[in-house]
Parts: sequence; C-alpha cells; structure tokens
Amino acid sequence: MDDRAKREVLARTDIGALVGDYVALRKRGNDLIGLCPFHAERTPSFHVHPDRGFFKCFGCGVGGDVFTFYERVENVTFIDALQALAKRAGVELQPWSPAASRARSERESIYAANAIAAAFFHRLLVLSPEGAEARTYCEGRGLDGETIRSFMLGYAPASWDALVTELQREGVEAEIAVRAGLIRRGQRGFYDFYRERLMIPTHGITGEVIAFGGRSLGGAEPKYLNTSTTPVYTKGRGLFALDRARRAAAKAGALIVVEGYLDCIALHQAGFENAVASLGTSLTAEQAAELQKYAGQVFVCFDADAAGSAATAKSIETLVAAGFSGYGVRIVALAPGTDPDAFVREVGRDAFQHALEGALPWIQFSLDRRIERLQSDGTGPAAVAREAERLVRSTPREEWDRWRQYVADRLRLSADDLRAAARSSQAPEPFRAGAPFTRYAAPAELPTIERDLLTVLLEEPALVAEYRDRIPVERFQGERYRELYAALVRNAGNLERSSDVLAVLNEQPAAKETAIGLQAGERAALAQFRDSAERRLHLDRIVEMLAERADRVRMKFLSDRIGALQGAGQAIPQNERDEYAYLVEKLDRTARRRIGTKSG
Ligand code: UTP
Ligand code: MN
Repeated sequence: MDDRAKREVLARTDIGALVGDYVALRKRGNDLIGLCPFHAERTPSFHVHPDRGFFKCFGCGVGGDVFTFYERVENVTFIDALQALAKRAGVELQPWSPAASRARSERESIYAANAIAAAFFHRLLVLSPEGAEARTYCEGRGLDGETIRSFMLGYAPASWDALVTELQREGVEAEIAVRAGLIRRGQRGFYDFYRERLMIPTHGITGEVIAFGGRSLGGAEPKYLNTSTTPVYTKGRGLFALDRARRAAAKAGALIVVEGYLDCIALHQAGFENAVASLGTSLTAEQAAELQKYAGQVFVCFDADAAGSAATAKSIETLVAAGFSGYGVRIVALAPGTDPDAFVREVGRDAFQHALEGALPWIQFSLDRRIERLQSDGTGPAAVAREAERLVRSTPREEWDRWRQYVADRLRLSADDLRAAARSSQAPEPFRAGAPFTRYAAPAELPTIERDLLTVLLEEPALVAEYRDRIPVERFQGERYRELYAALVRNAGNLERSSDVLAVLNEQPAAKETAIGLQAGERAALAQFRDSAERRLHLDRIVEMLAERADRVRMKFLSDRIGALQGAGQAIPQNERDEYAYLVEKLDRTARRRIGTKSG
C-alpha cells in the first residue's frame, strides 16, 4: 500500500469540506453537525471534527476518517476511495516514470475525447433537427426526458464526419480519437465510427465516459455497435451503470443484473436504481468480482428466452465461483418471451418488485431446472433422486439439510428416502415418475407475502396473538389465506406450539388443508428461521409491506375519484385532497428509502 500517498491525502483533505459535499452541516463550537447520511434521522447526531480529521455519528455509531467516509458514502473500496481522494487533493499516486506518465496522459486524453463526444451526441439528440427520428425512437421506447439527461443518451447522426469535425474543432488529436474507438482512419481520411444510432455512454466507476454502445434506429445490423477494447476499456470487464447503481446498492444490499442497456435504463427509470447490465450474455469472472465489491446479493434477471436461460445457468456458476453464497444469488424468472424492459413498462413496477421478492435462491433454481429436465427426459426416479442428492451436496455443507428437504418435498419423498436413494439405486416406494411435483405447493397466483406471513405464524403460532392487532384480516387478498388467518386469529388464545394448529382447525377443513399445504410446502423448507427474534424481524417487515400495499390501494382509489370529480367539473373535498397528498408523499418517501430491492 502506498502509505506516503495515504498520509498526504489525509493531510491535504479538509474533512469538513468533503463531508459538506454530501451533508448540510452547521457549525457548533469547533465541530460541524448535520443529519447522518448513513441512517435516517430527524435531529442531527452526525458530528465532524475538522481539527482532528474525523467524523462520528452518535445515532448509528459510524465514524472514521476521510477514507471511511468516502468509502461508505460512495460505496467504494479503499483503493477507489484513495484514488478519488488523491485526485481531489492533487496527490500523485504512483511514483513518476516517463512511461507511466505517458500512459496516464494517453488515458486522460481518451477520457476527454469521450466526454466531448458524449456531450456532442447528447446535444444532437436533445436539440437538433436531425435528432428528430432518434427522439421519436426514445419516445416509442418509453424513455422520458429525465432519463435521457441522466444517462446522457445521445444521437450519432447519419453523417461520415460530424464527430470528426467536432473533435477537430475541440482540439482533440485524431490519433487519440482513433485509440478511443470514436473514429476510424480510412483511405480518404478519418470517418465517424457510429452513424445513425442512439448513443449510450458507459461510465467508469469514477464517472469518466469509458465506452459507447450505439443502437441502430431502424433495422440496421448489427443491432448494437460497441466500443471494443481501448486503453481505458476492456470489453466484458465492467458493468453498465455500475457507477450510479453502487450507491443504491449500498442501501439495498443488492444489485440487479440484466442483459441489455435498455433493460437497465428502463429499470432505473422505474425506480430500480440498483440495476446494472452485463452487456452480453453470461457474466464474466471479472464482472462477478466487480459485483461482489458492491453488494452481498445479486438478482439475476436475464431475458426469458433460451439464450437468457442458458446465460443464467452459466452466470450462476461464475457468481458462485466468485464467492456469492446460497442466498446471495437470486434468480428472477420473468414470463417467457419477455425481458426486464418490456416487463417493467407493460406489467409495471409493482409487478417487478414482486418478481424480485419471489426470486429464487440459485440453488433452488438449479434444482428445479435439473429435476424438471430429468423428469421430462424420462429419467428413472431413483436416478433423479441420486442426481438431486448430488446437487444438494454441491451446495455449502450447512445448507444440505434444508435443500435435501426441499428436493424431498418436490419429489414427495422424505429426506431419508432421498439419502437412501442416493446410496442404493432402488426406486423408493412413494415416488412415481411423472407425478406432479407441486402437489403441496400453494397456488402461485396467491400473494407471496401472505404465504410467507402464514408460514412464519404456523412455525410459531404463539406469535398470532402478538401480531393480530397489527395485521387486519382484510389486508389479505388471497381468499384461502384470509380464511386461514382469520381462523388463527379467532383461536389465538389456544395456540402455543406448532402442533396446536391442526387441532384448533379441526372444524374448518378448508383452512386446515391450506395450513397443511403451507407446512409441507417449499416456503416452509426455506423459511427456517433460527429463533423467535428472527421470525419477529421477518413479520415486522411483512407488516410494513402490507401497510404499504393498503396505502397504495387507497391512493389509487383517491386518484381515480379525484380524476372523476375533476372530469365532471365538481369540487374535490379538501380532506380527500389532503389525504391524497399525504399518501403520495409517504409512499414516495418509502420508495426512496428502499430504492429498488429489498433483500429477502
Ligand atoms: P439484446 O438483443 O437483448 O438487446 O442484447 P436489448 O438491450 O434488449 O436491446 P433492445 O431492447 O432490443 O434495444 C442484450 C445486450 O447484448 C449486447 C448489448 O449490450 C445488448 O444490450 N448486444 C446485443 C450487442 O453488443 N450487439 C448486438 O448486436 C446485440
Ligand atoms: Mn433484450
């Protein structure tokens, strides 16, 4: 580690000024105080001590020097923080050598050329007459003005020398622009590489434009033209939008990975600001390592077609090899034929949020896929069980029990049967090839959170009495789930142990059947909470989600009603106006606090 540089950065960085870029601070004595950027608070408990060079939050306990602050607020590693702060403070990181200095200055020149090109393309898209076709294209794809600005989308005109001329005018050496991949040398001079395309810049983690993707507007092939490897960019190494997604990832604890530029941009526009794109098919090892720097959990959401599903399988291997754990990689399965862009625009952001919540841990996804494949191949039951047991054993050892139970449930076996099947090659009795796997699985169309809520309550029914006041029966949308929940609430006084449930439900066969289904279902196998405290945490989260859902329903009702009144030229009652404004503000606040995903 470059200790000299570190010391120099510490000496030359005014912590008050740095923090002041992110937090509104006011003076109190020798200190500066403000609202902590690392946790939500209303009264300031965040203190900066410029004279001693450190900060400390008395609310959440976070504290440290300029490096700690920058690492946390930007969600970057120490190395990146060192680089950024060194640049800010004007400290040279590497010892000087002519070669290193030449390479550095070449990189800087390429960044500058890219920045000029990006601004040029952007101006053309937003302002110029020849950008009209591209503007119409953006409109057709549902990209709004704010998105176009914030992603700095642009338009490369149908000319051979528009960019060449612009770069010349700005004093960029042609040789540098060639090295940047912006223009090419032809027999009669230089010409533009991108023509008649929607231009999408890719930024490096510290914000420089490092590459471009150009999408054809008509049917021109190839669909995308991309910067290939240059001194500042290696194809297949970075991730599109990671520079902005890492901040949201710090809050959500997760990143969403999609395949395409426009999938990623559409998700951002819909509020999933922790989305990044792999820009190709499956993830590379370098990309997996990048992801791991910024989030402990990755949601893989590739196109729902054959290529996407193959890419998902390969990416899982890569992510696991990079060290993501069993629950660290979740697979978001969209309806066949769709992709995240179409899904979020046509089905909606709430539906996408639900898809995230229902995303499968990779092990489950792989087990499902493999079992289905074997089944449809006509593979014998014993062989399926053997293979499944082998897969179970490819997971971390502490997860074997849970996944063995999951597979056993799917195959309608006991975990012991499965183990035995793996040892012998005899088909165990209760299993028949082709038998429906999902006999006990609750119908998928019923809302997942309600199912999760009930699964937890069935595991520890004493919690019913504790939570019933916070969860009104009417919140349930799934009829069968509402019925079961109502029955549990009515009998709350008699529920202590898990085994009490079926006894109190004797008079209600339908509710009893639902309970049995849930207890035997896949969620029960997955939702093994360590203790009561963990279950309570989970329930609290669900209570919050149910309340939010109720707010949304109410807001929709009010907005429809206000619209109707306005349409009919009638006055809108003040109390409804106020309630509507209150709900909009409240939901907006929750959405911003959450940003994109909630982890499991
Ligand atoms: P897709 O064909 O799924 O593109 O390729 P997309 O992003 O959904 O684009 P739209 O919605 O059709 O406009 C996924 C990604 O693969 C890369 C691009 O990065 C693209 O975003 N790709 C695809 C290329 O580099 N070149 C191509 O010709 C096609
Ligand atoms: Mn696509």
